Amino acid sequence: MPTTAGNEIAPVVDAAHAAPFATADDYREAIARMREAAAAYYAGEDIVMDDATYDALFARVSASEAAHPEWAVADSPTEVVAAGGGVAGDVVHSTPMLSLANVFDSDELRQWAARLEKVIGRPVAGFTVEPKIDGMAIAARYVDGALVQVATRGDGTAGEDVTAQARAVAGLPGRLTRPVTVEVRGEVFMTDDDFARANELRVAHGGAPFANPRNAAAGTLRAQDRAYLAPLSFLAYAVHDLPDGEGLTHSAAMAAIAELGVTTTAQSPAGMPRCATADELVDAVTSLGALRGKLGFDIDGAVIKADAPADRDAAGSSSRAPRWATAFKFPADTRTSTLTAIEVQVGRTGVITPVAVIAPVQVGGVVVTSATLHNFDDLVRRDVRVGDTVFVRRAGEVIPEITGAKLDERAADSVAFTPPEHCPRCGGEIDRSQKRWRCTQGRACGATESLAYFAARDSMDIEGLGDKVIRALVAAGMVTDPADLYDLDVAAVAQLERLGATSAAKLIANIEGSKTQPMSRVLTGLGVRMTGRSMSRRLARHFGTMGELTGASVEQLQEVEGVGPERAATIAAELRELAPIIDKLAARGVNLVEPGVIPASERAAAAAAESGSTAEAAGGGARLPLRNEDGTPMTVVVTGSVPGLSRNEGNEAVERLGGKSSGSVSKKTQLVVVGDGAGSKAAKAEELGIRIMPADRFAALLAAHDAGDQPSLAAF
Ligand code: IVH
Repeated sequence: MPTTAGNEIAPVVDAAHAAPFATADDYREAIARMREAAAAYYAGEDIVMDDATYDALFARVSASEAAHPEWAVADSPTEVVAAGGGVAGDVVHSTPMLSLANVFDSDELRQWAARLEKVIGRPVAGFTVEPKIDGMAIAARYVDGALVQVATRGDGTAGEDVTAQARAVAGLPGRLTRPVTVEVRGEVFMTDDDFARANELRVAHGGAPFANPRNAAAGTLRAQDRAYLAPLSFLAYAVHDLPDGEGLTHSAAMAAIAELGVTTTAQSPAGMPRCATADELVDAVTSLGALRGKLGFDIDGAVIKADAPADRDAAGSSSRAPRWATAFKFPADTRTSTLTAIEVQVGRTGVITPVAVIAPVQVGGVVVTSATLHNFDDLVRRDVRVGDTVFVRRAGEVIPEITGAKLDERAADSVAFTPPEHCPRCGGEIDRSQKRWRCTQGRACGATESLAYFAARDSMDIEGLGDKVIRALVAAGMVTDPADLYDLDVAAVAQLERLGATSAAKLIANIEGSKTQPMSRVLTGLGVRMTGRSMSRRLARHFGTMGELTGASVEQLQEVEGVGPERAATIAAELRELAPIIDKLAARGVNLVEPGVIPASERAAAAAAESGSTAEAAGGGARLPLRNEDGTPMTVVVTGSVPGLSRNEGNEAVERLGGKSSGSVSKKTQLVVVGDGAGSKAAKAEELGIRIMPADRFAALLAAHDAGDQPSLAAF
């Protein structure tokens, strides 16, 4: 059975560059594997091959047929719908239920649009873009407004009768608003919420949970006798024999069946935008991709269709798929990998969660190495074990999750996971009354660590707030989170053991003084996962204010150098969790602004008003001495000590002055700041002819900048 599990990163489809198979045997073997996978897929059985692998094989089979026409088998999956697969029932379809051709990126989409124009010999009158729902295709026949027959797609020619089960499907009414005879086609699927509920019910009845919503929908639709009901939904994407439907555009036909009471893809939150050009198509598909993960149900792409019936007639169909439509496939959102470990994490609020560590795998265009297992109930219910081949799902911008294990591939000696008895961080009791387990210490569990991090020299630099004092403050119940520090007063602190009135007064003054630290240090101190000092500075310099940062979308976060999709999703989730503490800090007067930085939104507005300005590239907006003429940051290395600055502060200063700090000297380095104790880096800079600046002059440049002057590098 094919699987993408293992230590390699699974291949991503590149249909345009797929390699033909080396031998006719390999080609035939691939077709056999595809048939097996397609048969399971259309029967709604457990996935034997994930989508991306199927698409990759499809592309290689196509490439092989182009290179070696003599190999081609008559019923290749490239020619017929669901070759060898599908449960061909006894309901013969009025017209075959076809498949769709695929494109995988915007270039291929543009090529498809250009080809269609060529085929019909004139510009396409308009396109529609709608979600490609990952469910089961059905055809529903209404006679005089009554639902009389529902059939699955089967092998495309004939399908199984699922009328009885389909009567309970939301969006597919038993009676239309008018007594019309018509056939509606579309997708039956399960929403994410219904999937979670269906699995709970299923397990409560002693069954194994479904691996994913698609399987759940297929299984439920085809089940004859169920001791429980799992809700299904329907969205129509086509209509046949609509009275007076002749000559209607696709969008008008969808509106007409919506009026009859059937829910259509145009009514999903994604809508069905109309596009006139390839550029508009690319935009619409990109917007739909950004919505994926927020729709509440699985989609695996966008379907693009010529809207006008004249264009469709002119384009026609092959035996497999219409030429007037194509599917833009999003990167697979579910793949398989090997679960190498289950770690137990304790969050800031004391929530204890199991986290999966997996062999690297590309999901949704991102390499994923860890994924959430949600909660211990879920983990025990799904019985996911170390060593299992697991399904990893990453829908859009959400954090990847493990949705289940392939039980048939489980090693005989695998061991079930044992949830922790005590909080793994503080050893305290666990509150198991809710799905999300919590350390009974709540925020106080781990408070010592997080407060120490907040007070550290590279964060808020609060002198006098060492480990001992922090432990005493936490033990006395005086602080549980960093914002509580700003509520302390001298009298209260002076009561702590071993802390006299003078030290208490000093400590309170230092805490008070830390309120003016730049936003980047507050951010560092909050310990956002997947960020450290330098990433915190980059975020602060990009957004300028904490408000802009916390309000940024996952997409906007990715505008920051070094922030990819996985990191962006984590940062966004972390900031959501930290929101109450950030609000508390703001209410206590802690500075949440990065000095000298124009907030991202103002920069964007200025850039829009005066397009072509370098404000965007300049990042901070103000004129900064360590910027190149084109506004990009100079690459600067600080070696040896700069008077008054720690190593971290030296790097921080480079960034404050508009540069990018680097640890090693190379040809790309533009400036090397040399202080006492500098070693080989200074010599290398000289060798490479890179400008060298003595540390005291760098300190003077920084002082001038911090005083509000706009010093130029040349003057130093
Ligand atoms: S149109 C003749 N629209 O994708 C064209 N199909 O891979 C019929 N699908 O068999 C298909 N969402 O089961 C169309 N909005 C949508 C769709 C959609 C999901 C499924 C459908 C089809 C398969 C092709």
